[in-house]
Amino acid sequence: MASFDDRRLSVSVADVNSGQEAEFQTLSTRFEAMLLRKDYGRAELIRDEAHPLRFYSVRFWSDATAAERCHQDPEVQALTAKLYQVSRVTHVVNGVRSPAGLRLLLDDRRARIEADRRTGFDRRVRGAGHTERERRDKQERRLGPRRVHDRGGEVDLVAAARRAREHADAAYSHFKVGAALETVDGGVFTGCNIENATYGLTICAERVAMFKALSEGHRAFTRIAIVADTEAPTPPCGACRQILWEFGGNLEILLANLTDEKGRHDLKDLLPFPFDARNL
Ligand code: THU
Repeated sequence: MASFDDRRLSVSVADVNSGQEAEFQTLSTRFEAMLLRKDYGRAELIRDEAHPLRFYSVRFWSDATAAERCHQDPEVQALTAKLYQVSRVTHVVNGVRSPAGLRLLLDDRRARIEADRRTGFDRRVRGAGHTERERRDKQERRLGPRRVHDRGGEVDLVAAARRAREHADAAYSHFKVGAALETVDGGVFTGCNIENATYGLTICAERVAMFKALSEGHRAFTRIAIVADTEAPTPPCGACRQILWEFGGNLEILLANLTDEKGRHDLKDLLPFPFDARNL
């Protein structure tokens, strides 16, 4: 067996579906055995004490190309496809080189998620381990970096959205909107609507926030707050829902006005039966 280069490792977080822990454990054990048998490396599964259904999977790759070879292996893909059916997997980091960096990451647990759709973890690969039927049946599963749950509270996103709204340029509609998008590492990108004399070139607050974040390399998000000066909550428009889904997945959507919070939604409920890369 190859000697492991412990500096090359990947970490992912799996939030196991309630009631499917046993299946998850069995599949994980099979996965670990497969990694060893094929000399890709070794894997360790760590249960999160604070969240009984959350596991950290740490993979130590045997060499620089092992991760890539492993993720291209159809047998591995078939097994990981099954794991995805019983858990929501967030790839936290791939191929860390510095052990100090990893310690930091595990301490903090607010690790920046790499752009997993563009790496060996590409879940958009057509049919990877799934039958056509299985893929269709899993419409509610999202594609991009997954939302990380249960870590709200640190950032007052609504306040940030209210401040951003002040910069709105709504010369035509006079309807000012502010948005604040939280990245998985706790950063916040804000946006406001910016209108144009041609009307159609107007861009909404949510998309401004998302594009700002994307343009600075962020690819994993947790929540977005949307603020307007209305009694009823102002939900994101259809175009924004599509963009938020594509890049943020099942975000938590916080709706508020200038004084109160007006509601919380999962994006999957605001955009049921979405069109996305799985349909291409
Ligand atoms: N608008 C947003 O910025 N976000 C929303 O969620 C709804 C609508 C903007 C677009 C336009 O500038 C104005 O509000 C009126 O539609």
